[in-house]
Amino acid sequence: MTRILITSAIPYINGIKHLGNLVGSQLPADLYARYQRARGAEVMFICATDEHGTPAELAAAKAGKPVAEFCAEMYEIQADIAKRFGLSFDHFGRSSSPQNHKLTQHFAGRLKAEGYIEEVSEKQVYSNADGRFLPDRYIEGTCPNCGYDKARGDQCENCTKQLDPTDLIEPRSAISGSTDLEVRETKHLYLRQSKLKDQLDDWINSKTDWPVLTTSIAKKWLHDGDGLRDRGITRDLDWGVPVKDGENDWPGMEGKVFYVWFDAPIEYIAATKEWADARGLDDSAWERWWRTDKGADDVRYVQFMGKDNVPFHTLSFPATIMGSGEPWKLVDYIKSFNYLNYDGGQFSTSQGRGVFMDQALDILPADYWRWWLLSHAPETSDSEFTWENFQSSVNKDLADVLGNFVSRVTKFCNSKFGPAVPEGGAYGEREQALIVDLTTKIRAYENHMAAMDVRKSAAELRSIWVAGNEYLQDVAPWTTFKENPEQAAAQIRLALNLIRVYAVLSAPFIPTASAQMLSGMNTLDMSWPDDVEAALGVLPVGHEFTVPEVLFAKISDDQREEWAEKFSGVRS
Ligand code: MF3
Ligand code: ZN
Repeated sequence: MTRILITSAIPYINGIKHLGNLVGSQLPADLYARYQRARGAEVMFICATDEHGTPAELAAAKAGKPVAEFCAEMYEIQADIAKRFGLSFDHFGRSSSPQNHKLTQHFAGRLKAEGYIEEVSEKQVYSNADGRFLPDRYIEGTCPNCGYDKARGDQCENCTKQLDPTDLIEPRSAISGSTDLEVRETKHLYLRQSKLKDQLDDWINSKTDWPVLTTSIAKKWLHDGDGLRDRGITRDLDWGVPVKDGENDWPGMEGKVFYVWFDAPIEYIAATKEWADARGLDDSAWERWWRTDKGADDVRYVQFMGKDNVPFHTLSFPATIMGSGEPWKLVDYIKSFNYLNYDGGQFSTSQGRGVFMDQALDILPADYWRWWLLSHAPETSDSEFTWENFQSSVNKDLADVLGNFVSRVTKFCNSKFGPAVPEGGAYGEREQALIVDLTTKIRAYENHMAAMDVRKSAAELRSIWVAGNEYLQDVAPWTTFKENPEQAAAQIRLALNLIRVYAVLSAPFIPTASAQMLSGMNTLDMSWPDDVEAALGVLPVGHEFTVPEVLFAKISDDQREEWAEKFSGVRS
């Protein structure tokens, strides 16, 4: 059986994520996981919260809570929202877990043993006004690469360049805004990833099927940029994974923790161990996903992330894996996304701009959002959320096309033939034409889904729904019924079966509505329509059904205006 390991970039713990975060990693990863499970693959779908680093410390301070307590609470909140969005993780872990502490320290020890760690006496920015060392991302200034004036000390959001704080022009403290900064001396560990340049280069060059967005960013930082320069992997912070050499102390590193970007991707592995531990399974249960000497060479490993995460997943994390000298699984395919913008500007967590996951669910069920976000995923370029576009896509695709098909067919059948699949004659020419058409479309859908072409998959699915509507419109059973009830019954028998097929095909996008359709059709049969003709006979004559509740309510102009207004400001 095909085995597929799927990881989504792990969201920072510091707040509830907005829809732009969701569509750039967790949601498309969920789409793919659900699809692969439906096709019979054995899937391990992993996500977690990214709990270390200054963002966590500062958010906790702002909330007036000890950081461990803040993280524990925020973890529960994020896990609950993920569940309500239908994100079907096999495990949603925490990067602060004991498993991750241990594994992160293990990797550091291995890297040291293999000669990839250098101890460097370093100058670090100290803020007199704030009375502390400033971690990279809490220093702001102008990007030396593109001139963006809100670049952070770790990376420029605008051009994705990885930075060091001392690269910034006119640096200031992001906490207080103070420019009273001084540089002090302190010792840190550096990962000598430059030594792995050729190995990384060969590896990336061998990935000829990767999306251009992924390889272009990787190659840019491998060649033109200095993305592969040796980087500090320790920080002067309290909260994080204490620096250790495997299980041993690391002299000179007392009181320091690993940099959040060092331990975060290791959590993909540790979370899989958390999954195994939570089930009382032994190490072979997670190692078969991650150790190529323990069976993981049969695994296809796919990662999902926003474009700003690409350098860390194409260069830094692979450097950690390769440098360890141990047979850990490297990623096979990286699906990356551009940004989703919000109504003429950017979504922003720090500024509270846009719609956040909890707010979205307060106004509409997950499927509405899932459908819009996935069918507008920012794949080849940035895309934009507008309330008009959201309204029209929900009303047209979900309510008029899919919802209407289901309700017309079930209601009509119920009133003319009763609540069971009617007998009627054999399928005729128009039905055969529909089967041919659906077969072509379903094969195309499968190809797009397998290729993780999210928008194309959504468009194909919609066209599969449309084909059913057009069929119904053409054969008009409500008219046929008057002269030829037998024929109308056959048409309805097909249409009822098509509802089950739609539920199966649509489940990766809109799992709740699909479950409602299946329960209306009174079946648990989720078999994939490999053979469309056979699939249209799965619900036999006499099989009872119920008329489902309205699947999708239309968004009115009043609602649209109210929401646009409500979300026009910033979240307090
Ligand atoms: N927390 C990061 C973000 O939200 C993603 C970390 S992904 C991992 O951008 F590789 F570090 F796990
Ligand atoms: Zn820049």
